[in-house]
Amino acid sequence: KRPVGAPDKALARKVTRVGIVGAGLMAAQIAVLFAQRLGVPVVMRDLDDERVGHGLGAVRQSVERLVASGRVSEPAAARLLGSITGTTELADLASCDFVIEAVTEVLALKKRVFAEVEQIVSPETILATNTSALSITQMAADLAHPERVVGLHFFNPVAAMPLVEVIHAEHTSPEALATGFAVADKLRKTAVLVADRPGFVVNRLLVLLLGVIVDAVEHGTPVEVADRALRPLGLPMPPFELFDLVGPAVGLHVLTSLRADLGERFPRSPGLEKLVADGTKVVQSAPKGLPKPVDPAIQAT
Ligand code: 3HC
Repeated sequence: KRPVGAPDKALARKVTRVGIVGAGLMAAQIAVLFAQRLGVPVVMRDLDDERVGHGLGAVRQSVERLVASGRVSEPAAARLLGSITGTTELADLASCDFVIEAVTEVLALKKRVFAEVEQIVSPETILATNTSALSITQMAADLAHPERVVGLHFFNPVAAMPLVEVIHAEHTSPEALATGFAVADKLRKTAVLVADRPGFVVNRLLVLLLGVIVDAVEHGTPVEVADRALRPLGLPMPPFELFDLVGPAVGLHVLTSLRADLGERFPRSPGLEKLVADGTKVVQSAPKGLPKPVDPAIQAT
């Protein structure tokens, strides 16, 4: 069944070679998923050998995990690893018919990446972005072909999270949107069509939820108590563990983007700002970095 508002899949472009710009946390996971489920060559590009090496290391770890859990056989893993290459040369993405960027969440940087990619790929190539919260319409605005840009927002851990937000920017063509859905389908993800609004749907909810929890902790509730209080909601992982997974800096970036567009509906979170400034992992840093509980009787049991 076609998701509400999604175009006809018959419009989708064929994807035979995938380029990924960036080799960080999300990029490496996305690379493995594309190589595994689309069965096409994937080339991952970053700025220097160190970053590329790090990304390829993360790819190897992900594939090892797939083997350890029995999802992928040893020979299939070898083929999978063989189909993912790393490069520092943007030109190596020239023959890709689908390029997804997963670089740092800075609008100007993402615009530059798309502009550079557009110079070297075919006019038919679809450009996708994994942005968490930035305007995809703005990201595409200065391109010769802004209609080729579509949002494809994955969640961490990419292999395990079933959802992908497919984002329709102002100029996104039916072909680009259809390709986004067709790709999500092949990746065996649940695709939802969402508007190009700050934080889309999931991060808008998530940042509010996590912001409220950080605020409670900042005012003295111990992390363990906050986690325990929320357990009956049935969250798949305690909020502070989720923060560790996502990274406080990403959380703060999403919040800042939302505030810039939507103002006081997304209040500042001094607790989150402090966590980012401390630059340590949340679970370990929260009790140290944030004030002690006001009431020592409030203890996790
Ligand atoms: N890589 C691959 N597979 C993984 C994985 C990883 N890093 N982590 C977990 N999995 C798989 C496991 O293999 C397992 O698969 P199976 O059930 O088929 O065997 C399944 O996920 C469940 O894993 P586990 O049994 O090890 O552990 P849990 O039951 O505790 O689940 C979890 C782990 C799936 C990560 C779960 O805790 C969860 O859903 N957490 C919430 C994560 C979340 O909300 N992510 C969204 C973050 S927001 C975001 O990314 C957006 C960005 O823009 C900020």
